[in-house]
Amino acid sequence: MQIREIMRSCPVMPVLVIEKTEHAVPLAKALVAGGIRVLEVTLRTEAALESVRLIAEQVPEAIVGVGTVIRPEQFKQSRDAGARFAVTPGLTPKLVAGALEVGIPLLPGVMTPSEVIYALEEGFDALKLFPAEQAGSYGMLKALGGPLAEVLFCPTGGVTPESAPKLLALPNVGCVGGSWLAPKDKLAAGDWAAITELAKAAAALRG
Ligand code: 3PG
Repeated sequence: MQIREIMRSCPVMPVLVIEKTEHAVPLAKALVAGGIRVLEVTLRTEAALESVRLIAEQVPEAIVGVGTVIRPEQFKQSRDAGARFAVTPGLTPKLVAGALEVGIPLLPGVMTPSEVIYALEEGFDALKLFPAEQAGSYGMLKALGGPLAEVLFCPTGGVTPESAPKLLALPNVGCVGGSWLAPKDKLAAGDWAAITELAKAAAALRG
């Protein structure tokens, strides 16, 4: 599955920070039950790669990927764990080479027009605007849509259920990313029903 297809599969890509591997499968099932199939498991915790492996094995309806990839060797580890795509907060020649070598679909992070052009030069036209809020969010995406209209964005960082609909209405936004679908307290409490409700609301955001 290519990145654009993944981006169009859900209006919101949940940015997941999983501290305990036993949360991985119930969390993924709760999100899928609410209509959110694309899951970005950030490589910020010890539990992350094992969580990806468990979700890939036990929740086949989910399209599980990894986020927070900042070192090239993480692409192979992620692919071997079952990740179907990878997200990076920025883009460097080493990350480009690492992703291409492993052959994992990549959603690279960018924040400036020059970074967008660099990504295009490397063959990536579906990009994450990160950190979206600090980069100007709606106004920035609208402005980039002029000279760089061929790029489809996933703004991430500071996006909320309130700001998402306006972003999703932009022609150059494929989906948005956000951590609000899996709040720490709901995860700690194992409140999967609440997470399904958050997912349902997120899945309905694209008007
Ligand atoms: C992150 O880095 O955690 C993501 O950009 C998500 O940001 P958010 O918590 O503002 O949704």
